Amino acid sequence: MSAARITEEAEFQVSPLSAHIGAEISGVDLTRPLEQKEVRAIRAALLKWRVLFFREQFMSHEQHVAFSAQFGELTVGHPVFGHVEGHPQIYSISKFRRATRFEGQPLLRPWTGWHTDVTAAVNPPFASILRGVTIPPYGGDTQWTNLVIAYEKLSEPLRKFVDGLRGVHRFAPPQGAKGTDAFASAVEQHTLVSEHPIVRVHPETGERALYVSPGFLKQIVGLAPRESQVLLELLWEHVTRPEFTVRFKWEAGSVAFWDNRTTAHLAPTDIFDLDFDRQLYRTTLVGDVPVGPDGRTSVSLEGSPMGAAAAIALN
Ligand code: SIN
Repeated sequence: MSAARITEEAEFQVSPLSAHIGAEISGVDLTRPLEQKEVRAIRAALLKWRVLFFREQFMSHEQHVAFSAQFGELTVGHPVFGHVEGHPQIYSISKFRRATRFEGQPLLRPWTGWHTDVTAAVNPPFASILRGVTIPPYGGDTQWTNLVIAYEKLSEPLRKFVDGLRGVHRFAPPQGAKGTDAFASAVEQHTLVSEHPIVRVHPETGERALYVSPGFLKQIVGLAPRESQVLLELLWEHVTRPEFTVRFKWEAGSVAFWDNRTTAHLAPTDIFDLDFDRQLYRTTLVGDVPVGPDGRTSVSLEGSPMGAAAAIALN
């Protein structure tokens, strides 16, 4: 598909990368303050394409924070794993941040690793902004999936059924696992658990998204354990169908900006079979409490809501 102007007012280009999700934006410099019309146009493109990609944006941590702040309040880097020293809003995504997670052989399934950021919190971040600094010459791609099209492509009887369900999202060590390192003990000490609707109504567009973050959603409320497991596996397999996804090849200076209310994503694991380093940095924007089609909001079962980094620094 050829590039097209995204709005009448903003002068940059949007090039869609797949049928349902992902567009590359060119002709805008994110290292300087944006004009209001540019902010509006980027927000509109984000709602339409779910994840936006920008190239050759060589930003410092300060510029990354300043760019992010034009779209909302920033959270602390990560509620469990902290932040880059001296930069409370920046979370370091380094290659080996989780290399030795838990003892034992992991159970790998096709949806393993897919997640939406921090859905164990009652108010998961509404958006994430990830910038590439050290990028391998090959390998290390990230994938995103569109949870709205996933909802729409369910059969009508199943859509009606899941509309009324709620699920428990948990940030905790796998059952029976024993932590072996700082990563594991951080998770053990900062358990976060929330109940969210299985179908989330987007607060800006009213769209329904299948809110089934595979990495965090552990159980469907009210179903027998086996019923819950089988239905979750069906939904996880469904949301990660390749035709709902886009795959992004990073370069140094690339930025990905995604809407966590309508997407899940998959960090690469092929980098562990390569000797190359990989370093990215992420900011996240404070989100609202999800609402289901029946108007019921999410509830926190354990842990605190994700506050703004500014508020945390003051307290
Ligand atoms: C993330 O899950 O936010 C990181 C994705 C990546 O490392 O590509």
